[in-house]
Amino acid sequence: MKVVRLATRADLLPVVSRWVVEAFAEPGTASDARVDALREMFSEKPYPFSLVAIDDDGVPMGCVHGVESELDDRPELEPFVAALYVEPRFRGRGVGGELLAAAERECGAAGFGEVYLCAWNEPGWYVRRGWRVIAERVGERGVPLMSKRVAADRSSR
Ligand SMILES: CC(C)(COP(=O)(O)OP(=O)(O)OC[C@H]1O[C@@H](n2cnc3c(N)ncnc32)[C@H](O)[C@@H]1OP(=O)(O)O)[C@@H](O)C(=O)NCCC(=O)NCCS
Repeated sequence: MKVVRLATRADLLPVVSRWVVEAFAEPGTASDARVDALREMFSEKPYPFSLVAIDDDGVPMGCVHGVESELDDRPELEPFVAALYVEPRFRGRGVGGELLAAAERECGAAGFGEVYLCAWNEPGWYVRRGWRVIAERVGERGVPLMSKRVAADRSSR
């Protein structure tokens, strides 16, 4: 398995768009807005980013993103790990954990010392990977807000 940046693989935009829209679109949100947001990842900049896990045969298995914010009422919190998704047939073999770790590293490389996420799934999954709950219920969905310290490359911010 390897993890690649979507910015280097335009051919993967359709599958990543489908995952993000199907798994995370809020009811009433235009799908186009999410796909437009993904297109913004196609730049030279290291952040924000979209990462894709690819198996040894080149089949895309899942994705994860590093974005500025997920909470309108907490704009001071940045960056967020968002839209972590693994295709159901590839789950349970560590792909999600690898993607999460890759996103943490990329946020650190972009100069951040702490990263955040809204836990749409079981918070324990993240706790086992070094994250902690810092607020029990945030956003419209009332999900846990979590954070983790990462090694920041201070030269990049
Ligand atoms: C959450 C998600 C990304 C995890 O991906 P994954 O590749 O299955 O992750 P991992 O294999 O690293 O970890 C899966 C865990 O479930 C266990 N597991 C065992 N069999 C499994 C199976 N068939 N399917 C899923 N999980 C299984 C694994 O042992 C592991 O347990 P651990 O936390 O004790 O290590 C994936 O389930 C997913 O895409 N869910 C829907 C979208 C979502 O909720 N995203 C997160 C919110 S932003």
